Amino acid sequence: MRGSLTDDDLMGWLRETDAARLAQLWTLADETRRTHVGDDVHLRGLIEVSNHCTRQCGYCGLRGENRGLTRYRMSADEVLEAARQAYACGYGTVVMQAGEDPALTGAWVADVVMRIKRETGLAVTLSLGERDRDDLRAWREAGADRYLLRFETSDRKLFQFIHPGRRGQPSDRLALLREIQGLGYETGSGIMMGVPGQTYASVLEDLRVFRDYDFDMIGIGPFIPHPDTPLGGREVPRAAADEQVPNSELMVYKAMALTRLLCPDVNMPSTSALATINRRDGREQGLQRGANVVMPNLTPVPYRRLYAIYPDKACINESATTCHGCLNRRLLNIGRRPGRGPGGRHVRGVERGVRRPVATVRGA
Ligand code: 5AD
Ligand code: FES
Repeated sequence: MRGSLTDDDLMGWLRETDAARLAQLWTLADETRRTHVGDDVHLRGLIEVSNHCTRQCGYCGLRGENRGLTRYRMSADEVLEAARQAYACGYGTVVMQAGEDPALTGAWVADVVMRIKRETGLAVTLSLGERDRDDLRAWREAGADRYLLRFETSDRKLFQFIHPGRRGQPSDRLALLREIQGLGYETGSGIMMGVPGQTYASVLEDLRVFRDYDFDMIGIGPFIPHPDTPLGGREVPRAAADEQVPNSELMVYKAMALTRLLCPDVNMPSTSALATINRRDGREQGLQRGANVVMPNLTPVPYRRLYAIYPDKACINESATTCHGCLNRRLLNIGRRPGRGPGGRHVRGVERGVRRPVATVRGA
């Protein structure tokens, strides 16, 4: 069925409500996941390095104009300590994520990346927003393996509305993602599901973009309204009732399952936002409907509640050790096992990062 998924099929699935038919979609996605990326669940330790942000995203609690939020920035030593914890837990990757924070300078980040690589040998993923090409290149040369930047929605008008540009210049995240791919990073992107104004037609287009851009990682999470943001109120304009996609758990599962069918060997996280809207077993259900990655939080507990991109985040008071034990139990419960090694994307048996080393990219 995968090869023959037409736009009509995709739209049919996105709008499907029949439980028995949806069960077929879950099974197909789960089988495709098992065949192409196996039962290993790759664990990426998430370090939320800074909650400072110069941008004004309408959806995100870290937006610069949210004056109610206490801001923090981790020291290099704190980041290193969290990376050591990732190593001790057996995770293959650390993800350094932050708001768009210019105080995380090109040189500072490059130095931290080098220290993490030298001390732990872990794969390093960066998720630091829309940064200059020079910084992105320097970080790649310092040893960063992967970069994450969601395009959030392929509807350009909606994106511009929810994500005001810098100095009046609209962001072109898809163009930036092409550059990031060109620098030899394994490249991750993704969307939020159910943003006010987001239509079924635009989600269909998002799925096409996933397929056409050949991303290595794709994350899909529900939009969770934050009361201290412009998109968090009740009065926000939405698309026509039959066009607006809901920010529901079900809608996220459908998009995840279809993404697995369209991009069979992609690495796909079961996101923290999904675990937040269904704390009982959202993460597990995501792993059974296409996902093969989880990102346990390694941010020091006092900072965690301050990294409030959306409210009531899961695991906000749990230590890294608690999450580690909890996740292991959860994986075993659904017959899966933690992956070993960096867990990069394999395309027809070849690891991506190995196929495109920095050295061949420098001259490009
Ligand atoms: N609800 C859900 N996801 C959000 N993100 C940011 N704000 C929210 C929110 N209110 C997601 C965006 C961003 C990622 C780091 O977190 O997709 O790319
Ligand atoms: Fe954090 Fe379960 S994953 S407590």
